Amino acid sequence: MPVRDIDIFIARLDRWWPDLLDGWAAPYGGHPDGDSALDRLVERLADRYRERTEPLKRHDLARTLKPDWFTDPSMIGYVFYVDRFAGTLAGVADHLDYLAELGVRYVHLMPLLQAREGEDDGGYAVMDYRAVDPALGTIADLEQLCGHLRDRGISVCVDLVLNHTAAEHAWARRARAGDPWAEAMYRIYPDRTMPDRFEATLPEVFPTFAPGNFTRIKGGRWAWTTFHSYQWDLDWSNPEVFLEMTDVLLSLANLGVDVFRLDAVAFMWKRLGTNCQNQPEVHDLLQALRACARIAAPAVIFKAEAIVGPDQLAHYLGLGRHHGRVADMAYQNSLMVQFWSSLAAGDTRLMTHVLREFPHKPVNTAWATYIRCHDDIGWAVTESDAAAVGWDGPAHRAFLSAFYTGAFPGSFARGEGFQVNPETGDQRVSGTFASLAGLEAAIEAADPEAITKAIERILLGHALILGWDGIPLLYMGDEIGMLNDRSYLDMPDQAADNRWLHRPRMDWVAAGRRHQPATVEGRIFAGLRALIETRRRTPQLSAAAPLRIVDGLGQSVFGFVREHPLGWLIALHGFGDRDAMVDPALLPKPASGILVDLLDGSRRLATRPIVVPARGVLWLVAAAGLE
Ligand code: GLC
Repeated sequence: MPVRDIDIFIARLDRWWPDLLDGWAAPYGGHPDGDSALDRLVERLADRYRERTEPLKRHDLARTLKPDWFTDPSMIGYVFYVDRFAGTLAGVADHLDYLAELGVRYVHLMPLLQAREGEDDGGYAVMDYRAVDPALGTIADLEQLCGHLRDRGISVCVDLVLNHTAAEHAWARRARAGDPWAEAMYRIYPDRTMPDRFEATLPEVFPTFAPGNFTRIKGGRWAWTTFHSYQWDLDWSNPEVFLEMTDVLLSLANLGVDVFRLDAVAFMWKRLGTNCQNQPEVHDLLQALRACARIAAPAVIFKAEAIVGPDQLAHYLGLGRHHGRVADMAYQNSLMVQFWSSLAAGDTRLMTHVLREFPHKPVNTAWATYIRCHDDIGWAVTESDAAAVGWDGPAHRAFLSAFYTGAFPGSFARGEGFQVNPETGDQRVSGTFASLAGLEAAIEAADPEAITKAIERILLGHALILGWDGIPLLYMGDEIGMLNDRSYLDMPDQAADNRWLHRPRMDWVAAGRRHQPATVEGRIFAGLRALIETRRRTPQLSAAAPLRIVDGLGQSVFGFVREHPLGWLIALHGFGDRDAMVDPALLPKPASGILVDLLDGSRRLATRPIVVPARGVLWLVAAAGLE
């Protein structure tokens, strides 16, 4: 290697060593192999760094010169399954103009590594982290696509499943055969003694199709399986797991992947007597892992997938000792839940309360904001938050489930219950954005007014995630209002899991109508495009600009202020069925006395009550000068 490259490696090692050591200490400091594992880890970092290509080294340089690159308001994410969007990895290249037209600068390619045969939890049961699903292409195809996307200024996000592998992974096969090294990669117990003790405090993730957290394997032993019985949890208290998974991560980074969606991270560390989620060591591990990526491949950032309660979530971006040192992005699950809650109730009080109390994220991080994704929606509303606005937690959750499955009288939604517990009535909900927002029912009823309302709801949700301090992740098909897809019922490996309802194939015929202004597709696409274009030009919408919730705006309005040295921006959202009035005394005052709405260019006197239309959005800034 050229001496300059060695210097760079050493400089980065110096820079990130304190983060690495600090993260390493709690999980592995006391481990008998901890020190030797750390030495071997540094060798691995050097090896993977050495393999990094010249274009990627330049990419690393560019990003270290602009470490806040991902907080730019032009960052718009798009999430899709490669096969459902474009058939194969090579096929994605044919749709780059479509992505560019939408303004996309970040794509999340849903699970694409080689998963087990048959049921595979939508690709989250990986049997080989170093191979791509052959139906999608090859590792070379992935590398090539990453190159094309990088040339167009689009970042590539790929899932890295850290909590578990498929039961068919080579380590799991060796563990079954009795290989002690491989067995130590997992949590395997000789009998039910420990599993029973853990089960006493463990919840179930998939109570209907995968009850319990342990699965009986060869030799009467029990493997820890939080999710499905074919997904074996790794034992992260073994430093070998850290070494191997870091190596996998850096090998994928060397293909050009630059955002890792760290799947199910909340579950990585287990502790007896707890629910084995959000343990402090998880944040240590992520901090150490991030330091490794910064050393060997600093173009890379992390997005934590921790679908946890409001009190736990911000820890994944780093609070306290870990401030800003854990993941660079984390899914803003509460914003998503609160959008649906306010939309059903026509009442924003819970949303305002929950999001106002939310810990502020570190400025060097960004929320991953979304309204829909490939998973179900779980009603993460705590009893205490509900009580704070005078509501009953279980009753509100039951209302939301009834509303979005269409059972509640007057509901516009067409979702389906997921993981329904007949005893408690607990359930989560599946369905596409459009079907949950009323478009499916409105089209069936051929009701133009209801269609308009559904489109407004879809644009309202998109405006919310575009205005928040993060990167908005558009979920494939939502930009043209795709409806629930029931074809999964004919697929034996999918029929039991109605999350496939909202994983449709891209309808390119419908997408072809996006330029026809009178069509549903045209109305949604154009509305979304306008929001994206406005966001791109608006520095206040950088993820680094602080966000403050405004209180007291009335029962049906949700609003926040984005603070920026160039001036604030006020975002107001109408969740009611009628227009609402906002008292301007609650909002910042422009020196010019005039407010401009960036979304339609309209101007108004700042002293007059502000009308927030039903399902409407305003992005207000101060008009410059005293015009
Ligand atoms: C994540 C994924 C989900 C999957 C689970 C297990 O939550 O989003 O689809 O079932 O992890 O890997």
